[in-house]
Amino acid sequence: MSDQIRKTQKAGLAFFDASHSAEVVNARMGPQADPRLREIITVVVRHLHAAIKEAAITPDEWFTAIQFLTQTGQMCSDWRQEFILLSDVLGLSMLVDSIDHARPDACTENTVLGPFHVSSAPRLEHGENISLDGKGEPLLVRGHVMNTQGQPVAGATLDVWQANEDGFYDVQQKGIQPDWNLRGIFVTDMEGRYWFRSAKPRYYPIPDDGPVGRLLASLDRHPNRAAHLHFIVEAAGYDRLVTQIFTPDCPFLTEDAVFGAKRSLIAEFQRVHDHERAAQIGFQTPFWDVEWNFVLAPARPGK
Ligand code: BEZ
Ligand code: FE
Repeated sequence: MSDQIRKTQKAGLAFFDASHSAEVVNARMGPQADPRLREIITVVVRHLHAAIKEAAITPDEWFTAIQFLTQTGQMCSDWRQEFILLSDVLGLSMLVDSIDHARPDACTENTVLGPFHVSSAPRLEHGENISLDGKGEPLLVRGHVMNTQGQPVAGATLDVWQANEDGFYDVQQKGIQPDWNLRGIFVTDMEGRYWFRSAKPRYYPIPDDGPVGRLLASLDRHPNRAAHLHFIVEAAGYDRLVTQIFTPDCPFLTEDAVFGAKRSLIAEFQRVHDHERAAQIGFQTPFWDVEWNFVLAPARPGK
């Protein structure tokens, strides 16, 4: 008889018993198990068993759950990650991110990356217009990147992307939107400044034609994300910031489908009617103006 069997028998955990089901399962792990994996699986098994007991899940319901997860996997491709979407709508992506990104109060908060970031977007000069389809209301985006002492961060890159007026990213509408529509990378100047032109974002539904969309519908939840612009801000010596800024007038601000909207990330969008200012930046009136400063945290050791 192996040491393992002897140990589990001694502990009274050899045979399945609903009242100690999680302990029986967890006792099967051997001494060579990866320590971190052992820690995680122990907790996951304990909570899953508790959930099944608390909700008194029936075999039919369990099979429905298995079918749902099977369909979620079948929906995944190089272009679609339905499991990430599931993690997003259950608030799990935000929770994992918030545990990893507890930052000093003064810093800009992180939020979800989402599935529509594309690396190697074009590097653009300050002032360029990323709205290549010309749809939507014109928007000026400007501000600084700074550190927690309020000092400018020169040479920081801002990778920006957003959906268009119809509620789609360019990668969702290949051949309909121009390539690289509403994307670009800007680099801050010596004073830490950046500015570019775009279109005011509007809310849009997350992809809801798969199992996650059907789950939301069954739960009487809408699939809309609050209107936002995405940013990844990076500079040597600072923690990489993955964030978004939100319009204050979006009807879905307090009910973002993926819980990505945070109070601290709501920006002020001003409507500008000044013809002279508009002419200076190559806009017609009225246009929208948002000033947003990003505050970076110092790099974390080992990250
Ligand atoms: C997004 O903002 O692009 C997004 C985030 C999570 C799920 C789907 C879309
Ligand atoms: Fe988005």
